[in-house]
Amino acid sequence: MKTLVFGPGFLGQRLCAQLPGAVLSRVDITDAAAVREALREHAPEAVINAAGKTGRPNVDWCETHQAETYRANVVGPLVLADACAARGAYLLHIGSGCVFYGDSPAPGGWREDDPANPISFYSRTKYAADLVLGKLPHVGVARIRMPLDGRPDARNLITKLSKYRFVIDVENSVTVVDDFVSVAGALVERRAQGVFHVTNPGAMKHRDLLAAYRRHVDPSHAAEFIPAEELVTRGLAAAARSNCILASDRLAALGITMRPIADVLDGLVAEYARHA
Ligand SMILES: NC(=O)c1ccc[n+]([C@@H]2O[C@H](COP(=O)([O-])OP(=O)(O)OC[C@H]3O[C@@H](n4cnc5c(N)ncnc54)[C@H](OP(=O)(O)O)[C@@H]3O)[C@@H](O)[C@H]2O)c1
Repeated sequence: MKTLVFGPGFLGQRLCAQLPGAVLSRVDITDAAAVREALREHAPEAVINAAGKTGRPNVDWCETHQAETYRANVVGPLVLADACAARGAYLLHIGSGCVFYGDSPAPGGWREDDPANPISFYSRTKYAADLVLGKLPHVGVARIRMPLDGRPDARNLITKLSKYRFVIDVENSVTVVDDFVSVAGALVERRAQGVFHVTNPGAMKHRDLLAAYRRHVDPSHAAEFIPAEELVTRGLAAAARSNCILASDRLAALGITMRPIADVLDGLVAEYARHA
């Protein structure tokens, strides 16, 4: 399928490398005229929005760069939705499961239509976009969490966690990047509407990931585990981080499956070791 991907970052580049028919655009998604021109030039059947401000060196940047963050994460996605509607193109927007903080209201994890409780400015902008995009008939929102990949990258959770001296002792839903790319392709094929939780079944503890890291990458790796609340009180982060477990009922209802994280974690870290 002819797909135009906006956002030349970690996920945008992977989508273009692995999705047949995908082409990368470097256009500023807040520039409505430039977006319309890109859609006219490429005439895609579908658009994927992988553009957004995620913060450098980390998401705390968004707390102090609010205008850049809401323009890229709220205004830009709405510009894309408008331009796609005008051309009859489908839009798949990459959302984030980090709009949820803590335990889900019902057992089994946070569901797609649960009201979220974002705390950080980044999470608030991601949820603001979801609230509108999640209701539009030509738009799908793929919420991912803590991407894990077999290749080192500053955005890869394996790379991130392996560099921290203090690591919060938590359990989360996570997204394997290869699986995300396959699911994104399937959602685009179906022009699937609404919010989807694109996370691998099961949950992963940070300590399990780092145990695999010690087995495959660096036997001497050491980290001190601390309670989640201490991340901010120790001054290690400016804003609280989301830790949560998601249910993926809507993906399952479409017959789209992902591999359980418990089945892939060890092999993924072994692959990471080969590329490290
Ligand atoms: N990585 C994660 O942990 C994670 C988790 C959940 C959801 N997501 C979502 O996934 C999407 C892609 O994230 P990623 O991990 O690939 O992050 P990334 O590597 O930072 O990629 C985002 C890309 O978008 C670009 N960008 C920013 N503002 C833009 C604008 N106005 N117009 C066009 N491009 C713009 C960035 O350029 P600059 O670097 O120049 O700003 C960067 O190249 C984001 O929406 C993010 O919220 C990521």
